[in-house]
Amino acid sequence: MAPPHDDSKLETADESLSASNRPISTVLIIIAMQTEALPLVNKFQLSQAVDSVFPKGVPWVRYHGTYKDLNINIMWPGKDAVLGVDSVGTVSSSLLTYASVQTLQPDLIINAGTAGGFKAKGACIGDVFLVSEVAFHDRRIPIPVFDLYGVGLRQTCSTPNILKDLNLKVGKLSTGDSLDMCPQDESSIFANDATVKDMEGAAVAYVADLLKVPAVFIKAVTDVVDGDKPTTEEFLENLAAVAAALEQAVAQVIDYINGKCIAEL
Ligand code: ADE
Repeated sequence: MAPPHDDSKLETADESLSASNRPISTVLIIIAMQTEALPLVNKFQLSQAVDSVFPKGVPWVRYHGTYKDLNINIMWPGKDAVLGVDSVGTVSSSLLTYASVQTLQPDLIINAGTAGGFKAKGACIGDVFLVSEVAFHDRRIPIPVFDLYGVGLRQTCSTPNILKDLNLKVGKLSTGDSLDMCPQDESSIFANDATVKDMEGAAVAYVADLLKVPAVFIKAVTDVVDGDKPTTEEFLENLAAVAAALEQAVAQVIDYINGKCIAEL
């Protein structure tokens, strides 16, 4: 029997085709830490939204404004209500991405942030990477197929022209909910062939994939994971300077995408 004719599915396919061929209009930038977000808020002269469109009481902060032809929204998950620190990690970033996409209907997601880098894979402090694929390294489920679900490997939006035209390094990203790296995480990161590790990327990619929004990931290296210095010390020492490098790279990407459609990136 022929499958029933489903007009709604056909329309969706047409819509997504035209979406990748019309100029990008609304950009959603997901950033976990305030120190990473503020240089970009200043660069694009964004203002903090006053009447939140999000549920009452959530700490999420939206900075928005127009830059050239783009409607830019930076979403920061805000400070933990009890502890007062940035709400880093996969749980808050996936919730924030979901709610932001539902509300803002962006054409493109940019997940920007800092990351640990592996010098064995060519990463140095201050390098900025455009990520080619993302996976998790702390979701170990040693049962066939669940193991692959745990790793959650996803390709990022293909951006050959950004890579060709901007001076960014390219590498794979591995995500987990810890800043440090235990031996099990280390072997998963190695299996993921990752050059950089962070605490949000694969979670943002999961939601972007669910909701079919193209996503790119820009990660700047604050600490060398396979180096001699303790991670926390090196991270805190370099955070402000590397946030400035991140701002420059994201601004370059924003300038590049202005007036272009997804298929031209
Ligand atoms: N963000 C910055 N440095 C990191 C690291 N070493 N691991 C996870 N996230 C990071």
